[in-house]
Amino acid sequence: MEILTRIDALRARLSDARRMGCRVVFVPTMGNLHAGHMSLLASAKQHGDYIVSSIFVNRLQFAPNEDFDRYPRTFESDCSMLAAEGAHIVFAPDETVLYPAPQVYMVQTPQVGDELEGQFRPGFFRGVATVVLKLFNIVQPDAAVFGKKDYQQLLIIRGMVNQLALPIEIVASDTVRAIDGLALSSRNGYLSEGDRARASDLYKVLTEAAGLLRHGRRDFPVIEKQSVEMLGRSGWDTDYITIRRQRDLSSPDASDESLVILGAAKIGRTRLIDNLEIGLQPT
Ligand code: PAF
Repeated sequence: MEILTRIDALRARLSDARRMGCRVVFVPTMGNLHAGHMSLLASAKQHGDYIVSSIFVNRLQFAPNEDFDRYPRTFESDCSMLAAEGAHIVFAPDETVLYPAPQVYMVQTPQVGDELEGQFRPGFFRGVATVVLKLFNIVQPDAAVFGKKDYQQLLIIRGMVNQLALPIEIVASDTVRAIDGLALSSRNGYLSEGDRARASDLYKVLTEAAGLLRHGRRDFPVIEKQSVEMLGRSGWDTDYITIRRQRDLSSPDASDESLVILGAAKIGRTRLIDNLEIGLQPT
């Protein structure tokens, strides 16, 4: 595995790989890798034979009050994990490479980018879409892998790729969970011991709501409200629990069959997000 920090060096390697007929699959990350990222790598290997991963903590997607400065940087162990999982290249630019001048050309995301995560983290998806488009232009992969854990991010990247006619297949990879159901996330590292013990509440509440939907309940607002109340009783401060259509995250009606329930809530000082897809039989 090679670690490259410069765009020209990366492009030279990639043009060699393409000349040899390789299909390039890209896994963008912000580092602090865990088993969830390794499953993105495993998906990547099923969709191509030359795996490029990037490690770049993208300032543009952090609001001034967020954790950009304290976001865990674990470059050495990230590289060992990527090498062990069979990545061919790690692209690890610093800010002078990716943003040599202030990035004033930004991707304007659609309305859905201002909802849910976008409502609680204004500008987040603009920052994500901008860096992802830039990385796509640098790597020019045949396919790229994103986790379903960040469901709204996946939807927005897919939409951007479709509408801007980028010739990149977007591969969705399932969420990896700890034994108690907690979705793996770099931010789980912020949890205190006590909060970690309760952190799977969010998954449990989503699972319970999904069960109600599978049993035919269609009173979405009531289910959402009860879920928020359950979390509240366990000491969580909930930003949203919402049932949406899988295809575009719009509000569903009783006839919709492909739903997703998404949640974001704080336990202690740590904000977690999670979601579950629900396939329903027509009623
Ligand atoms: O999901 C992430 O880790 C980031 O949002 C991404 C896609 C690497 C862009 O910085």
